[in-house]
Amino acid sequence: MSEKIFVFDTTLRDGEQCPGASMNLREKLEVARQLQRLNVDIIEAGFPVISDGDYESVERIATEVRGPIIAGLARCTPADIDAAGAAVKPAGDRARIHVFLATSKIHRDHKLKKVDEEVVRLAVEGVKRAKALVKDIEFSPEDASRTEPEFLAKVIQAAIEAGATTVNIPDTVGYAIPDQFAALIQYLKDNVRNIDDAIISVHCHDDLGLSVANSLAAIRAGARQVEGTINGIGERAGNVALEEVVMALKTRKDFYGGYHTDLNYQEIVKTSRLVSRMCGLTIARSKAIVGENAFAHGAGIHQDGILKHRETYEIMNPVDIGWGESELPLTKHSGRHAMVKRLEHLGYRLSDEEINRLFARFKEIGDKKKFVYDEDLAALIDDSFGSSGETWQLEYLHVTSGTSTVPTATVRVRKGDELLQDSAPGNGAVDAAMKAIDRILHQSGHLVEYLVESMSGGKDALGEVTVKCDFGGGRLVTGKGASTDVIDASARAYLNAVNRFRQQSKEPAKLPSQSENFEPATV
Ligand code: KIV
Ligand code: ZN
Repeated sequence: MSEKIFVFDTTLRDGEQCPGASMNLREKLEVARQLQRLNVDIIEAGFPVISDGDYESVERIATEVRGPIIAGLARCTPADIDAAGAAVKPAGDRARIHVFLATSKIHRDHKLKKVDEEVVRLAVEGVKRAKALVKDIEFSPEDASRTEPEFLAKVIQAAIEAGATTVNIPDTVGYAIPDQFAALIQYLKDNVRNIDDAIISVHCHDDLGLSVANSLAAIRAGARQVEGTINGIGERAGNVALEEVVMALKTRKDFYGGYHTDLNYQEIVKTSRLVSRMCGLTIARSKAIVGENAFAHGAGIHQDGILKHRETYEIMNPVDIGWGESELPLTKHSGRHAMVKRLEHLGYRLSDEEINRLFARFKEIGDKKKFVYDEDLAALIDDSFGSSGETWQLEYLHVTSGTSTVPTATVRVRKGDELLQDSAPGNGAVDAAMKAIDRILHQSGHLVEYLVESMSGGKDALGEVTVKCDFGGGRLVTGKGASTDVIDASARAYLNAVNRFRQQSKEPAKLPSQSENFEPATV
């Protein structure tokens, strides 16, 4: 009998902690809906106490997304636990509170400044407080892989006694080695008296590039839940890439025959693309499973082999995970209905007003290029709705540039009825356009990253520009813009980042990190 491995997705919580990857409410909802289609078992939707924005997104996801369990993260403090409990409540029976507390000696001594007994007490009180709000409780001893096994076993046993239904073993700093990590899971199975009353979960980071190997080793040793993110996004070197773990289990059935997941594998590529776009983090071409080259065979000898018998050089069928299922592209003759149908297929759900706005952009682009592909549509959505609320829109752009003239841009932007215009010189046409926007809006943005990608083939391809900007304070803000003209796309991307920055500045600042400034209060 094959045993189920529960898939816990933390793209919207741990993944979003990656610098420059923050998503707004609309984007988080799109990702959560796609995770529902992917059929993950648990969506960790955020860390509700951290800001009003995080609270609202967890609550909206708990209200709107049906199917998966919705989890909210909390430290072992009353404020955190109560905020998480309230935010996940709309999910009803599918609500989970995930409480965590550091247990390793280095964290106990230097961060918490607590003796062992106090750490156990805080963990127990945290779990009990959460249990009074919802029945499904996950407990994580942060930095578990560097915690003394005896102490880890003690905390876990106490957390299960207090009501934890899942105990997660995080390799917080990506320090574990597969054999050792598997031995730790085995140790807990042998030494925690009530371990069978909870599901063992693992949560691996990729600092040594071992997160997939560690997760798989832990599954063989007894873990039945695996936590990770789509595309492996996350702080530092990231979290384990879920698509890699699940495809290893599926592809190597000969070895992992005893386990299965309930994932809808056909949705993997679509989910990966959506997360990449929403976070503004491009996927390396050679990335396993979802990279552009993952199934591209350059060498003639390989191509010949594939044509004769696919399995000579392909261990997975790309079609099974959603590669190559593109449909006929739209053209300028396609109607609103056809565009809406395509959007639905791609997983987007827009309001009538947003569809009207997008349709106008679609027609504009359709006049300039023969086909509008799925990637083009997604790019138009990013640059049209990258930020929520009323935003500055590009109304007019004129640039003069060349080898014997000072590049100059004139830009007009609109927000509702407010119309503003200015001009500025720059080092190049893109720089001039950004400087003109800065002059209009009395700000000074610093461009940290700039990337142009072609959305489809051909000379008339839509170019998408992704920028990462710092408007002061060191926080990176991502913006995207799409157009058949690269300067136009750049100005749109910059304005998109400006809108996001202004939107984020309205929200109370996030805590520096989930762990810093931790003053454990008595629960
Ligand atoms: O890496 C970690 O330890 C975490 C915990 C909150 C589970 O993200
Ligand atoms: Zn983590």
